Amino acid sequence: MPDSLRRHTDYGQTPLTEEDVATDPIGQLVTWLEHAEVSGIDEPNAMVLSTIAPDGSPSSRTVLLRGVDERGLEFFTSYSSDKGKALLAHPEVSIVFPWYRLHRQVIVRGTAAMVDAAASDAYFGRRPRGAQIAAVASDQSRPIASREALEQKVLEVEQRLGDTAPVPRPEDWGGFVVCPTSIEFWQGRSSRLHDRLRFTRPDAASTWVLERLQP
Ligand SMILES: Cc1cc2nc3c(=O)[nH]c(=O)nc-3n(C[C@H](O)[C@H](O)[C@H](O)COP(=O)(O)O)c2cc1C
Repeated sequence: MPDSLRRHTDYGQTPLTEEDVATDPIGQLVTWLEHAEVSGIDEPNAMVLSTIAPDGSPSSRTVLLRGVDERGLEFFTSYSSDKGKALLAHPEVSIVFPWYRLHRQVIVRGTAAMVDAAASDAYFGRRPRGAQIAAVASDQSRPIASREALEQKVLEVEQRLGDTAPVPRPEDWGGFVVCPTSIEFWQGRSSRLHDRLRFTRPDAASTWVLERLQP
């Protein structure tokens, strides 16, 4: 059995108090994102996004947070991917930021909506050209016969566009913004007596309510 399955890590005594968290949980999330950045962990803006497929089955995968403000959490993907189809059928999501090195996690629940085409164009235009071409060539989540077949599709897109022509954003590729209704800040503590502070609101027009949860 791998050693890690038997390990009991002590998560330390860094407290998270009601006084510590900002009254605005989105501001608190930004503060913790900055802490994750300076800690030097890989992909501090990576978040595990869970969705509900049209047939009701759950699924999870990592995406990168690309924007966060009072409107919510923004990420980009293919609208025709499995997650894209899931979100169009069931916009309710759960998101986890897994900041293990910091003994922290943030859990966000909310409702996803497509961002407008101009915002998707603006972000697509800032992507490296290779990533733009990959978005055109790849039917995300669909099976393909081989790696060679995928690389052949990329080659065809490159030949069609040449070296300099701007890569047009695929119509089915763009952003979602998740408007949060719940944001929980979890700080690991010794003996599994972790601090859990959860902000909830029924909708974006309401004020946040803060509760402490048992670990
Ligand atoms: C660190 C990391 C970051 C990722 N970021 C994104 C992203 O921002 N958008 C995206 O569509 N897929 C991203 N992926 C790939 C997804 O996890 C997933 O494989 C892909 O989106 C297909 O998911 P689906 O078939 O459930 O729709 C990322 C994967 C990792 C490991």
